[in-house]
Amino acid sequence: ASTPSLPNTLPSIIRKKLMGYVGFANLPNQVHRKSVRKGFQFTAMVVGESGLGKSTLINTLFNTTLYPPKEPLPPSAERPTTVSIESIGADIEENGVRLHLTVVDTPGFGDFVNNDESWKPILENIESRFDSFLEQENRVNRTKVVDNRVHACLYFIQATGHSLKEIDIEFMRRLHNKVNLIPVIAKADTMTDEEVAEFKERVLSDIAHHNIHIFQAPTYDNEDEETIAEAEEIASKIPFAVVGSDKIVTTPDGRQVRGRAYPWGVVEVDNEEHCDFVKLRQMLIRTYMEELREYTNDVLYENWRTEKLLGMGVAQDSSVFKEINPAARMQEERVLHEAKLAKMEAEMKMVFQQKVQEKESKLKQSEEELYARHKEMKDALEKQRTDLEEKKRKIESGRPITPREKHYWETKGFLAHLNSLPY
Ligand code: GTP
Repeated sequence: ASTPSLPNTLPSIIRKKLMGYVGFANLPNQVHRKSVRKGFQFTAMVVGESGLGKSTLINTLFNTTLYPPKEPLPPSAERPTTVSIESIGADIEENGVRLHLTVVDTPGFGDFVNNDESWKPILENIESRFDSFLEQENRVNRTKVVDNRVHACLYFIQATGHSLKEIDIEFMRRLHNKVNLIPVIAKADTMTDEEVAEFKERVLSDIAHHNIHIFQAPTYDNEDEETIAEAEEIASKIPFAVVGSDKIVTTPDGRQVRGRAYPWGVVEVDNEEHCDFVKLRQMLIRTYMEELREYTNDVLYENWRTEKLLGMGVAQDSSVFKEINPAARMQEERVLHEAKLAKMEAEMKMVFQQKVQEKESKLKQSEEELYARHKEMKDALEKQRTDLEEKKRKIESGRPITPREKHYWETKGFLAHLNSLPY
């Protein structure tokens, strides 16, 4: 069957050769200049059990001491019992480009006897950030919108060598459609290369089995081979097996590197043969930071917003339509008003019928009462008549009339009149 062709409403594109330099080729530079002036905002969240090296990795990623070294808690200190959320903000600058970086830490995650709901305060925090953004978007003046939404969540998996734990699966399942998940295998230097490869495979199959969506570096049709190859290489390293260290150590061949020194040698953080730190940094900062921000805004936040507004009973598109179309709004008001009138009319009809019924039954009752009284009177008169008849018979039989009997005879004419009445 042939598909009906759509009417061609698009303007035809005519390719023209320019006679000389016009200047719009400078647009990317204009955008670049503006972005540099405005600076960037990025919020990363770190989640994982205590001691997995979260603070160290953040310091290593941004090459700064965002997290000062922590003093271990004295044994007598009161331990927290819930997951808390702590943010650290820092303005960092590189080659004139300013970045306002916020790192959201989640101390306590997975540290309790019962960790069933460890994901909950984290989900609430992510959603409250969406809420705050939505509230700013709805303001009359929205020139200064601060974006506090979490753009990426580094989830630290303990290098157990087995597979994902229940708490890992539950967290990722609950959060994967609210935040860009980037799973990392913490302290990968505690496993051999083979163990790392096997563990990665198991983690990935668990993630696939539970239909968990983790952030993937996007590729576009018109991109060059090099970019596509880079994205594929990054994707092949997920979950990133990382090693963190903010210390400079000397390698056996005398190089000064960021790494961890062991009696048997040095693990270099920035060496791709030793760990996936470089690829993680590429994903999070060097190549895909803007993609992470965009995916958060266009997909994760947008889906959350639609769900939230629908949940509040706001049919998004129709409300916008009514806002800009007074005729549609008036039509809706008229329909509502008519429905209200019809309801009132039905109610009035019902009340009227009720009143008529009441009146009818009252009338019927008083009719019955009247009839009963009439019957009573008639019976009494009948009795009187038979008495008189009796008296008359006695008189006629010759007995002298007593004054009382005389009175009866006198009233007889009146009684005859009463008896002739129609009831
Ligand atoms: P909390 O703040 O308690 O949640 O811990 P954390 O996850 O931030 O861990 P932190 O960065 O404080 O590191 C804990 C310990 O692990 C420190 O002694 C670090 O030196 C060490 N460490 C950090 N990263 C690595 C790593 O990649 N490999 C190894 N072997 N040790 C690491």
